[in-house]
Amino acid sequence: MGICEGRVVIVTGAGGGLGRAYALGLAAEGASVVVNDLGVGTHGEAGETKGAAQQVVEEIQAMGGKAVADTGDVADWDAGKRMVEAAIDTFGSLHAVVNNAGFVRDRMFVSCTPEEWDAVTRVHLRGHFCTSRHAVDYWRSENKAGRPIDARIINTTSGAGLQGSIGQSAYSASKAGIASLTLVQAAELGRYGITANALAPNARTRMTMTAFADTMTSQQESAFDPFAPENTAPLVAWLASEQSRNVTGQVFEPFGGTIRISEGWTDGPTSDDVGRRLRPDEVGAVVEKLVAGRTPAKPVYGAS
Ligand code: NAI
Repeated sequence: MGICEGRVVIVTGAGGGLGRAYALGLAAEGASVVVNDLGVGTHGEAGETKGAAQQVVEEIQAMGGKAVADTGDVADWDAGKRMVEAAIDTFGSLHAVVNNAGFVRDRMFVSCTPEEWDAVTRVHLRGHFCTSRHAVDYWRSENKAGRPIDARIINTTSGAGLQGSIGQSAYSASKAGIASLTLVQAAELGRYGITANALAPNARTRMTMTAFADTMTSQQESAFDPFAPENTAPLVAWLASEQSRNVTGQVFEPFGGTIRISEGWTDGPTSDDVGRRLRPDEVGAVVEKLVAGRTPAKPVYGAS
């Protein structure tokens, strides 16, 4: 018996890449899956992979699993509601939302247009809001009706969000926002029986093949392929299962056969209290000492 037997899970952006691997992995563990995908291109171009969600549903059904397709836009408020309704109407319940859908429009900050900024922040940030918000409505009303809730929000951040990435300002800002959102959801929603965690994956998909093709392909020859998207699926299945009940507010960086847990922002050195407000001409020396004494942050991706 799989670890997700009886669980109903929505996976957004599950028509390809990581989302597809999660949907297949969840179904193999016994979950019924709502496979969402709008079928857009790597940069959000319309119609690129139309029918992708249905194809994954057919793959799941062919292996004896349960799935239904949804082709809504994750950043559309009403589409988020329809996704949650699809889970309840088709499978009778909902236990987890895996917010995974997204795309990139990489640009140096100096050339990023307002349209690119809005498109990227919309799909990631608003996309993480709409479906989860409707799911939380459902879980809270179930909880108020006295039915036990053991629900999960599984978000997708990125190394770009945790440490920054040159040429990805809108994407990095969105993914950093998602990491913070996860902390707030965990703190606010625990009382209803809902956990919230995030992943920063690292896998070969069409998204990363545009930016990191050399690193990703060099490993394909070895017996174990650390960049296979399927490597992230066991962590997602576990997080969606009842077994992860006591883990919330965490950010995981899975890669190959490893899982790293992120320690996030934490307090560094503090200057001595001088018992009065600092004068502007004193600040420089204080900050210099603090910068020299702090644990250096991980460098921004792409910075030499
Ligand atoms: P992908 O491009 O292979 O898959 C993304 C899927 O999302 C596509 O099937 C696309 O049609 C769908 N999608 C895009 N916009 C949508 C919308 N508005 N509504 C519904 N579906 C939509 O990319 P990949 O690599 O699988 O990425 C999955 C997630 O993981 C993304 O959030 C990405 O930012 C994140 N990520 C991926 C990394 C990697 O190493 N591949 C690294 C860090 C984060």
